[in-house]
Amino acid sequence: MSFPAARTGQVLFLNGTSSSGKSSIAGQLLLILDRPFFHLPVDAINAMRARQRTLELDPGELAAVLARTRAGFHRAVAGMAQAGNDLVVDYVLSEQWRLLDCLTVLSGLDVVFIGVRCSGQELARREKERGDRQPGQAAAQLRQVHSYGAYDIECDTTATSPRDCALTIKQSLDQLPTPRAFDRLRSECLLR
Ligand SMILES: Nc1ncnc2c1ncn2[C@@H]1O[C@H](COP(=O)(O)OP(=O)(O)O)[C@@H](O)[C@H]1O
Ligand SMILES: [Mg+2]
Repeated sequence: MSFPAARTGQVLFLNGTSSSGKSSIAGQLLLILDRPFFHLPVDAINAMRARQRTLELDPGELAAVLARTRAGFHRAVAGMAQAGNDLVVDYVLSEQWRLLDCLTVLSGLDVVFIGVRCSGQELARREKERGDRQPGQAAAQLRQVHSYGAYDIECDTTATSPRDCALTIKQSLDQLPTPRAFDRLRSECLLR
């Protein structure tokens, strides 16, 4: 007998560069949302892979492993939501194929696409302060990550706390646009 999901989960899809504050907002959302959401960051999937064997890969092999890690993450998100779990997804759409794949595998799910913005200057400051990210990584992602032209909700963390961004997101869930950003993007990008 298969598992009888009464409903599919809602997916709050945070998209922003590294250090834009996605994980901090996700942590706050889990505290203030009324139902028990999961925080699903792509970093958690990366952290599950054997570290030493990954370091031994040549550049071509590494690229292939990272691509299938990301494709696997998209499907893990879909699987969790299809089983009825509500999710805060924490991801960087720094390549177009990642968005196209998400549009495909998350089809039929309640996805709220949320842009997490931050100024380049503040990103550089945070990267330096946290010390565990390559300097310039966020700046290099900035243009592509927000290039898709459609969000349901946007926030800017440059001068706003994670708590206030999470509160804004929670309030905005009651007045989402129709059609949703993912549905608009799906018809623009996949059905052309
Ligand atoms: N709204 C904010 N204002 C100031 N600093 C922040 C804010 N959000 C996150 N930070 C800091 O920036 C760094 C990266 O935050 P994090 O939430 O891990 O970003 P991401 O998940 O997008 O990489 C952390 O050191 C965090 O404390
Ligand atoms: Mg993070």
